[in-house]
Amino acid sequence: MNENEHIKTDDQPSRDEILQREIDANGGEWKDDPNCVGAAGMTMFDSSSSQDNLITVLLPKQNVRTIGAHSLVEIRSRTDQNGGDGRKYRGIVVAGPFHEPDGIKADAPMIITTTIHGAIFMPNFHGKVYVELIGELKDGAVVPPKFRPLPNSPVFVLSNDETGAALNVAADPGITMGMAIGHDNIEVQIPSDKKTVLPRHIGILGTTGGGKSTTVSGLMAQFQQKNVATIVIDTEGEYTQVDRPAENANMKKILEKREIANQGIKNIKVFSLIGRDTRAEKPTAIASFTIKFSRLSPYAAVDIMGLTEAQFGRFFKAYDAAKKILKELQIYPKKGQERESLEIDELETGYPELTLTLLIDVAGLILNQVAKDTSSIIRTSFMKEDGRNPKIDVIIETVAKSTDNDSSWKALLGKLWQLDRTKVFDQNGAYEIPFEELIKPGVVSIIDLHDSDSSIVNNIVIATLLRGVQRAQEEAYEKAIEEKRNPTPVSIIIEEAHEFLSRERIAKMSNLFEQVARIARRGRKRWLGLVFVTQLPQHLPDEVLGLINSFILHKINDAAVISRLKRSIGGVDDNLWNRLPSLAPGQAVVSTPSLTRPLLVAMDPSPCKLLLVE
Ligand SMILES: Nc1ncnc2c1ncn2[C@@H]1O[C@H](COP(=O)(O)OP(=O)(O)O)[C@@H](O)[C@H]1O
Ligand SMILES: [Mg+2]
Repeated sequence: MNENEHIKTDDQPSRDEILQREIDANGGEWKDDPNCVGAAGMTMFDSSSSQDNLITVLLPKQNVRTIGAHSLVEIRSRTDQNGGDGRKYRGIVVAGPFHEPDGIKADAPMIITTTIHGAIFMPNFHGKVYVELIGELKDGAVVPPKFRPLPNSPVFVLSNDETGAALNVAADPGITMGMAIGHDNIEVQIPSDKKTVLPRHIGILGTTGGGKSTTVSGLMAQFQQKNVATIVIDTEGEYTQVDRPAENANMKKILEKREIANQGIKNIKVFSLIGRDTRAEKPTAIASFTIKFSRLSPYAAVDIMGLTEAQFGRFFKAYDAAKKILKELQIYPKKGQERESLEIDELETGYPELTLTLLIDVAGLILNQVAKDTSSIIRTSFMKEDGRNPKIDVIIETVAKSTDNDSSWKALLGKLWQLDRTKVFDQNGAYEIPFEELIKPGVVSIIDLHDSDSSIVNNIVIATLLRGVQRAQEEAYEKAIEEKRNPTPVSIIIEEAHEFLSRERIAKMSNLFEQVARIARRGRKRWLGLVFVTQLPQHLPDEVLGLINSFILHKINDAAVISRLKRSIGGVDDNLWNRLPSLAPGQAVVSTPSLTRPLLVAMDPSPCKLLLVE
């Protein structure tokens, strides 16, 4: 017998038994881990380049198409006797899918050489994605993760429905933004009835041609259908024909695909300043309006005129004298109005019956006295036929004694006349905007300012409109609450917001800005939401960005602008910021408190006609 020959004796294990022992010692027979059934991929070990919150996931070749650029995933950390913790994590793909060859570097000379010579050398390959952890799943809630999933943990792709639920894209009643990019069929909505969204103010930012106006008009159409009262400050007159269907062939095609009826916006009315042109055409309802000087806070007027300190003091001397004259002439307050007259907040509004004409007359009379110029006679509406009213003379003389420097008075008068020349205030033949009508459910009001010709006029209109709507809405809100009705939400859309609220301007116009800030703060509780639209977000001061809770960011090229926005807008991850410069028209990053995380959205086209900006 050969000594090498294995002799089976009773006390020696057989080969099979040895093998079995070996198998047992190593954890038993290989079975597909039931925890991994249906997994798209597995998590990897970390390397020196690993980042907090970012997990590398490898995918077998047959799964590289199951996971996309924005897929949501669930990672089930291993559960086994080797120290698995069984935690579940939710994450989102933020980079990839990338393809890597198995067992060889992607830039190995063999691969490069064969590829550049047109030969096909196709080693086996696998997929790789980077997943950002959104949180850990605990009792159905997503909480901030304390650990990372263990290496070799299975990663599952959420279904479309699960993804929609995880992102919280559905709202009822909701305003549809469009379709989430990177997912199969997920419609993104924001709630129209939650105080966290519309009344917490919206910013629509992006370069010209990015799709802002389309987004705005799409919102207008849906606001109208959801019975929101919508007011648009239309500096270019581009929304004056939104009651007509869209004419653009491409828009019509997309509308059809998205099953949005191309029917224009109902219930619109265009307001244009008296004496100015409008781009609206009959049969659209058109009304011309004027502004009562008595609506404008004297502090806002001072800001808008850009008065110097010397002029400021003199302006208020004239303003106070004008008030005394109104009282003397029993124009205001009349009997019984004294109390009310004491409660007027001049930071918010003007003085009843105090017209710009009266103010100019009073300032002129004071100037005459200061300059000791009795030759020029000022004829005013409040003087008697013979040109004198002793009591008013006393008022003027008293002021004149308390002041000097006729050149400052002349400069002030120059500014008042300049304001008068805008022909905005108290014009005959037109009414002021009926604020109470504007805040009714489903009413869409377009303030056409394209022919206003000056930003002073625009600012006056915007300042008085904001104030007027705020007052009307506060009353309507209180009334609704009293009557246990739902208040009507109001949305004011300000196009070219940078012109009204630019950084330089706010530095000079602090009162005007304070007024906007107050409206923004109070509006949150009273369903008055502002929508700021601008192609120059770099001009918006941080204070304004700070008032905004929801952002729709269309294409933005400028890296400096992006980095500034990054500082003001939380929660948008770098990979979305990086996409901003290359977004196509109509694409936008939507960030709003109702969504679990900001999303890239193909915004819906709008079912109405937009006029070109001239
Ligand atoms: N949601 C959209 N879907 C498809 N195309 C769009 C969309 N929004 C804008 N576009 C295209 O981009 C162009 C410019 O859009 P517009 O809304 O006028 O941009 P902006 O107001 O930012 O200058 C439109 O004429 C249209 O061709
Ligand atoms: Mg536009």
